[in-house]
Amino acid sequence: MLHNLQIEEMHAEVESPEKRARALLGQMTLEEKIGQLSQVNGSGHHLHDDIRAGRIGSILNEVNVDEINEAQRIALKESRLGIPLLIGRDVIHGFKTIFPIPLGQAATWDTESVRAAAAVAALEAASKGVNWTFAPMIDITRDPRWGRIAESLGEDPLLCSKLGAAMIEGFQGSRLSDAGSIAACAKHFAGYGAVESGLDYATANIPENELRNVYLTPFKAAADAGVATFMASFSDLNGVPASGNEFLMKQVLRDEWGFGGFVVSDWDSIKELTVHGFAADDRQAAYEAASAGVDMEMASSLYREQLPALIESGKLSESRIDEMVLNVLRIKYESGLFENAYTDPHRFPALVNADHRKLAKAVAIKSCVLLKNDGPVLPLSVEHLSDIAVIGPLADDGYEQLGTWVFDGESHHSHTCLRAIYEMAGDKARVHWAPGMRGLRCRESVGLNDAVAAAEQSDVALLFMGEESILSGEAHCRADIDLPGQQEALIEAVAATGTPIVLVVMAGRPLTLGKILDKVAAVLYAWHPGTMGGPAIADILFGKESPSGKLPVSFPRVVGQIPIYYSRKNTGRPPSHDSITHIDEIDGKAEQTSLGMSAFHLDAGFTPQFHFGYGLSYTKFAYRDMSLSTHQLRMGETLTLRCVVENIGERTSEEVVQLYIRDLVGNVTRPVRELKGFQRLPLQPGESREVTFALHTDDLAFYDRRMELVTEAGGFHAWIGSSSDPELWAEFEVVD
Ligand code: GLC
Repeated sequence: MLHNLQIEEMHAEVESPEKRARALLGQMTLEEKIGQLSQVNGSGHHLHDDIRAGRIGSILNEVNVDEINEAQRIALKESRLGIPLLIGRDVIHGFKTIFPIPLGQAATWDTESVRAAAAVAALEAASKGVNWTFAPMIDITRDPRWGRIAESLGEDPLLCSKLGAAMIEGFQGSRLSDAGSIAACAKHFAGYGAVESGLDYATANIPENELRNVYLTPFKAAADAGVATFMASFSDLNGVPASGNEFLMKQVLRDEWGFGGFVVSDWDSIKELTVHGFAADDRQAAYEAASAGVDMEMASSLYREQLPALIESGKLSESRIDEMVLNVLRIKYESGLFENAYTDPHRFPALVNADHRKLAKAVAIKSCVLLKNDGPVLPLSVEHLSDIAVIGPLADDGYEQLGTWVFDGESHHSHTCLRAIYEMAGDKARVHWAPGMRGLRCRESVGLNDAVAAAEQSDVALLFMGEESILSGEAHCRADIDLPGQQEALIEAVAATGTPIVLVVMAGRPLTLGKILDKVAAVLYAWHPGTMGGPAIADILFGKESPSGKLPVSFPRVVGQIPIYYSRKNTGRPPSHDSITHIDEIDGKAEQTSLGMSAFHLDAGFTPQFHFGYGLSYTKFAYRDMSLSTHQLRMGETLTLRCVVENIGERTSEEVVQLYIRDLVGNVTRPVRELKGFQRLPLQPGESREVTFALHTDDLAFYDRRMELVTEAGGFHAWIGSSSDPELWAEFEVVD
């Protein structure tokens, strides 16, 4: 047993994490090495012996700071080598102060908002002893049926890369060892968002070219941003489950990207290699995962049970185990845990404090997307309203507005829409509150009459509809993404009163709203907005704030259009409005009135309900004077693109100006549009500003059919505008 002094001397911060890790490794027994590769769920006395014996390197899902401090004390003072524990938790969009779900945060198109939210989440989690979060989730997805779209940052590689990197910066701070920093985790590596039919845990078949050009892009950005850890996905990628996938974990992550952190499995995902039929038994599953490059095992215990025999038999070398242990120890040293593994909550600001609430409200405001505003009916002017109907269960449900993946948030902290509306307008107008339904999936018409009565006596009807948080998230996928239950019937009944409807949707995914869109005057999409969703939505509805969010994902008209996304390929027969077939009914018989042989659905056309990047405001922005620094861009040079954006309305608001390009001819086919830049631009009424984007030829690179990252000479189109259906267009050429 080493004396405490010896342990402290050994861990003394005299050298780099790498050297300290190697020095420590040299002291470790095989059992202690395997202990560092084992993450166990929970904590408590039943684990103390294992911690004392060095058989556990990390625990997850413990947030009692006294229990965590005790576990750390045992690890530091009672184990032979005094190696501290990593304490993991899913801090996905807030710890105690809950921010909008990540898909909602993506709708801000604002790296600073996303970074700041992650920093608050880290601070609150760290105050309880958590030092590692399993976020950001940066799986690109184009399938709203998939429940985990709620946790994602949407469909686009650039937006997901920029926002994912901002989250990592927020979680990890400038130094991993700082008091309010926690290690981040890029997940789920990789291709999880492309699961077939939007079914969680299903197969993902992604050609390597598409994998590299789309799905790996945000993970490369995360590695470049210095993320401490990666998490292997549950899913089978091209026949090889990610948790045993050497191409991902070694060739891409280590050899190509030079990643120096460690990889954790997903929950039981190593054990599930036998269920996939990829491993015959636990021993082979442990072998496949360890040799592929999954360093730490979450929840299941195959590494502890099987690695000794694999080493003993020579099937697996101890040097492979050493590499895995070094990856883990390096992060533990970088996290400063050997210097300070204990947490004093009193050294941290209070949870859910006023500043955190203020930020949560600000992020929620920026996340709301105004999809429709006929009239315009919004913003509401309280002075001109005598009666306001507030209808729908989501108007007053502090739990549901938090959204999925909330472990530590508490609904009693929530500020609901109903409360915020009373606060905003209750002393000036009569508020008629009617839930209208017993629950959002309820199919009876209980409560509908009260809702109709409330609407009949009101100047405007504010309807709060959408999904309960349980309808999205892990293992919560939907084959029909209409509004659940009786909601459409309720909307129609309220519309029949003639009172104008403002529909506020809270949901964990894009919903198909086509059946009710013409029944409502306005639609504000609030995702699940978090703790401060109420005041944020009320400030927008009553005009204290102008909406500025933009869609991070395309909204299908009907579920049959999925996958539908803006950066599609042109195909040999691209659809256009005059290229589709019309079949009309004439005297009860089908009559084909036009024939178009192109990529569209007879019953849905080819355009989304709402475009990627789309979002209205309370003002209008005009785009003009697009110019390029050159129309012949030499390889290796930078093109500057400019335009002028003017606020031609009466309200101050922020516009997200977007830059798209199209590579007209490629070694592999290229998308008809690709987002290459975005900027949030606050403009006063009448104010105009020149917006500039810089585009280096490297920014035009893509993986070609030889899997080489290349920029090819040739023609390009460029657009600048307010969505992926942009206003301004130009063309340029890249020349060798
Ligand atoms: C889950 C999720 C993963 C999460 C982990 C720990 O099954 O797939 O995203 O971080 O288990 O809760």
